[in-house]
Amino acid sequence: MTFLLPLKLFDRNWDQDLPYYYEQILDKKECDDICTWKDVEYCLNLPNFFDIDVVSKHEIQKINPQKHPRSWAGQGWEEKSELFHLFKEGHTFIINNYSFRSEKVMGMLEQWSKIFSGDSQFQIYCGMGQSNSFYIHEDLPNNFIVQLRGKTKWKVFNERRATFVAQATPGDAQVDYDSFTPAIDVELNAGDALYIPPRCYHQAQPSEERISLSIPVHHYSLYHAHSITRPVDWKWYNIY
Ligand SMILES: [Fe+2]
Repeated sequence: MTFLLPLKLFDRNWDQDLPYYYEQILDKKECDDICTWKDVEYCLNLPNFFDIDVVSKHEIQKINPQKHPRSWAGQGWEEKSELFHLFKEGHTFIINNYSFRSEKVMGMLEQWSKIFSGDSQFQIYCGMGQSNSFYIHEDLPNNFIVQLRGKTKWKVFNERRATFVAQATPGDAQVDYDSFTPAIDVELNAGDALYIPPRCYHQAQPSEERISLSIPVHHYSLYHAHSITRPVDWKWYNIY
């Protein structure tokens, strides 16, 4: 299967590393090929494997469901019934290990890695209604956001944090968030995408039911801080 998303995202003028809004680059089938509610349901049924975070819909802060020790495993994990209860309440769910969802998804990442050389992964941000994501913040990697279902409001600011300065704690009193000016202020619809340059301040506000794909890309040549990481081999191997 040819995975067109990386080709479509790559196909623009990269002379300047600025925030970029892509309008309607994927159709519904292409969105569904990446992730549907059935895929989310699958991941929530395997919380020990998919590394799930929950952000409250009431305030911008993580909910940390209790992780229970299991006699046969090295580390504990959440009760599925509690995760599904929280999901139905409408909080934001982050599936950090979505890259490993299936052979198909790993094949997509293998194709992605050929276009965007670097250490990438697929993370899913989703929820059943209006909720929260994180405070205005900046991330170390380049980041692509692809809206697969529903809508999400996004602001990407002109302001960037200097490359070799440590990341600020969200809400840091020394950062003048009020003076920030938006480079992009948009509501992403299913099929739209965003490019957020590294260290560029941004914030998402999920306004309704949605599934969003986040693809961070660490480039070794640019990020000395990450030179110790090793790219994941996304090829699917057979045992015979
Ligand atoms: Fe971010």
